[in-house]
Amino acid sequence: MIIALAADHGGVELKKYIREYLREEGYKLVDLGTNSDESVDYPIYGRLCAEAVAGGKAQLGIVFCGSGIGISIAANRVKGARCALCTSVEMAKLSKQHNNANMLSLGGRLTSPELAKEIVKAWLSEEFQGGRHQRRIDLLDE
Ligand code: RB5
Repeated sequence: MIIALAADHGGVELKKYIREYLREEGYKLVDLGTNSDESVDYPIYGRLCAEAVAGGKAQLGIVFCGSGIGISIAANRVKGARCALCTSVEMAKLSKQHNNANMLSLGGRLTSPELAKEIVKAWLSEEFQGGRHQRRIDLLDE
């Protein structure tokens, strides 16, 4: 399983923290940047990560910006990306169970590293429920 990561300057610190956690857990990672606190544009990084997931270079993607909002909007413009901005463990579970979210978005200025780790853990361990949810996902791409 390869997980792609990308952030703007507002999410870079949280990305580093989650990257370390995922590395310790043994996941293969592709880090698409940014890697400094110099101001950059989140649409670039959201798209980069979503294209990696939609194009099959990674199975899942996690994106980070200050709020998690802008970079999730950017990711969701790429066909095949289903990026869920999650601020709780419950949202993370539902995003996988019902939406089969292949991308997760986190806000580096709004979500603590500890909570972000719990959100990532829940999102990675939860399974898609299929059935009526698959029909709805198919409609997204029509
Ligand atoms: C950057 O200052 C900030 O606007 C960005 O990280 C993000 O929060 C946008 O949605």
